[in-house]
Amino acid sequence: MSKKTIADVDVKGKKVLIRVDFNVPMKDGKITDDTRITAALPTIRHALEHGGKVIAFSHLGRVESEEDKKENSLKPAAERLSELLGKPVAFIPETRGEALEKAAAALKEGEILMFENTRFEDVPGKKESKNNPELGKYWASLGDVFVNDAFGTAHRAHASNVGISENIGEGLAVAGFLMEKEIKFIGEAVNNPKRPLVAILGGAKVSDKIGVIENLLTKADKVLVGGAMMFTFLKAQGKAVGKSRVEEDKVELAKSLLAKSGGKLILPVDTVAAAEFKNDSPAETVSVDAIPADKMGLDIGPGTVALFGAEIAKAKTVVWNGPMGVFEMPNFAKGTIGICEAIAGLQDAVTIIGGGDSAAAAISLGYEDKFTHISTGGGASLEYLEGKTLPGVASISDK
Ligand code: 3PG
Repeated sequence: MSKKTIADVDVKGKKVLIRVDFNVPMKDGKITDDTRITAALPTIRHALEHGGKVIAFSHLGRVESEEDKKENSLKPAAERLSELLGKPVAFIPETRGEALEKAAAALKEGEILMFENTRFEDVPGKKESKNNPELGKYWASLGDVFVNDAFGTAHRAHASNVGISENIGEGLAVAGFLMEKEIKFIGEAVNNPKRPLVAILGGAKVSDKIGVIENLLTKADKVLVGGAMMFTFLKAQGKAVGKSRVEEDKVELAKSLLAKSGGKLILPVDTVAAAEFKNDSPAETVSVDAIPADKMGLDIGPGTVALFGAEIAKAKTVVWNGPMGVFEMPNFAKGTIGICEAIAGLQDAVTIIGGGDSAAAAISLGYEDKFTHISTGGGASLEYLEGKTLPGVASISDK
């Protein structure tokens, strides 16, 4: 990698600012999935074991009012981190000021503190989200070196990633191990893949994935399209799709993507359709040429699983973003499970899930260990797959 990493700097005795992405799902103040916290442990452990004085921080949720602050404290994440590290993590319920500065100055080698949600600085004035120069400078002043391990936030140019990088000093903004791993796997899969490269794209909306489809059509050998967005493409082919979800204003775009795909873009041949968007709505598998007018497709069918499976079986690299159907409902999860199975059967391939819903699907369906890499980035991995430059990555010092 062309960017400096934490392995390239001596952290002993230094105050090490570590930007993590602990934007984790919570219910009633409890963390429901700590994957992102676990994923940051190698970097944090490395810094602590090498004599760093660690100041960790993250955003959590969107904070637009004082009211939002009540539900978005990072305290539960700091507590979980402490459990996982097996050592105290002092939580400072501030984002600036004397208490934070004193606690940072008092840290001893191998100790760690975490301060409050960086987006508390968004009320008022969106200082964090608008990369307020004073804020980035202030946070940078708390440390000697900045480790950016927040891949999930890398598509944002905020004070807590880009702002600190700009102010920490020449060569002192480095990537953490998670950031390094994400860049390596997703970057190589898209830009320098072992071929054939098969991309699998699903999810509800074509509009969310236009950039990804366009970029992957230039890079992949095959692009398999499932999920509800298949129906916008099927409609573009002139097929009747019943009550299935279609983005009418994207049908022309789907037509032009099909026209320029040079046969790379492969669409489903069948779908599992039901009258209502409910797990117990009686379902039938139908050809995409015979979707009943009063039904909607909620999953890809077995014929499609076989068709996609045959392409996946030839792949040396697989990149997947977006579930194939409504996997949260067991009756419409078989398409997504079928794709997980096809990928799990590969012996010698690099297999990557690009974050968000598809990662959640693979994990909840029990296939977590079957992939080479499950990205911790939702929006970030999508923008990376689109071929965009991520400001959080660009702002890390070059080697
Ligand atoms: C994410 O979950 O995708 C990241 O943490 C970024 O969160 P955001 O979309 O609220 O900026």
